[in-house]
Amino acid sequence: MTNDARSGPRCVALTGASGFLGREVVARLWQSGIEVLGITRKITQGLPFVPVVYDLTDGGQPVPPMPGARCSALIHIAGHYPGSTLAPSLLHEQGTAQVVQLAHQWRIEKIIYVSAQGAGMTAPSSFQQTKWTAEEIISHSGLPYTIVRPHLIVGPGSTSMTWLNTHGRVPSVPVRPVHVADVAETIIRALWLSRTEGRRYELAGPQMVRLTDLTPKNGTFSRFKRKISEVQLEQLGITAVRGGFVDGSWISDFGLLPRSILPAKALSASY
Ligand SMILES: NC(=O)c1ccc[n+]([C@@H]2O[C@H](COP(=O)([O-])OP(=O)(O)OC[C@H]3O[C@@H](n4cnc5c(N)ncnc54)[C@H](OP(=O)(O)O)[C@@H]3O)[C@@H](O)[C@H]2O)c1
Repeated sequence: MTNDARSGPRCVALTGASGFLGREVVARLWQSGIEVLGITRKITQGLPFVPVVYDLTDGGQPVPPMPGARCSALIHIAGHYPGSTLAPSLLHEQGTAQVVQLAHQWRIEKIIYVSAQGAGMTAPSSFQQTKWTAEEIISHSGLPYTIVRPHLIVGPGSTSMTWLNTHGRVPSVPVRPVHVADVAETIIRALWLSRTEGRRYELAGPQMVRLTDLTPKNGTFSRFKRKISEVQLEQLGITAVRGGFVDGSWISDFGLLPRSILPAKALSASY
């Protein structure tokens, strides 16, 4: 890679830089003095990255030239978001193919891809199936890569939690939420850690909680008559965790102890 003395990239390109997770990653890179190019559909004032306007679902657009600094790594975060009317395949499959094309044209040397819990060819939702196809596109790109599959990401400004809290009563299903700060830290460490190359990591938080534990106990949403279904959750990339084994290689390979989301006393009596 085009590295500095600490063997890390001096400039990183990001898709999804303006989103919930992207902002956390950008802030950390910026604080470390690393330049960020943010690939976005529109320019948002006040965010600490150089914007590159490029819609990943517009297949007719030529790849824009890389402005200014030479970025040696690319973090592909953009993903289908709650409430979008577009099919998940458009951004996950066509969009990821465009990201790979851009990576080759920009002579990127490493890609980190943010997939989702439950990504799989025969997964229950089109969201998870198309995330799996995107993983395959990345893994066949010919570039060194690391893929992370976060469970429900929580923290201030969570798009998924905001959607859930405004679209119905959430079901009381077990989940293993992961904090946005831990996901962002993992992505950044993956830029440096060559042992994570070619690997896919499940990012699940240390606590099994009920989705209802994460939503406020009063407020307008509690008056919703309609309950959000598990199928709707799967379309957001959230699958109920009913027992089973969570691969711990994330913790050992990244040397990171993920934080608890809730104090123990706030958990449902069943845990
Ligand atoms: N949040 C969760 O609980 C969760 C859980 C598991 C996995 N994930 C995955 O993590 C990633 C980030 O999630 P998030 O919650 O941070 O998402 P988010 O807040 O909804 O942000 C989505 C980002 O995608 C970008 N984007 C959307 N369509 C685009 C397009 N056509 N071209 C270019 N950029 C486009 C948006 O950029 P502009 O608006 O600037 O164009 C925005 O920055 C996603 O891939 C998501 O599937 C999230």
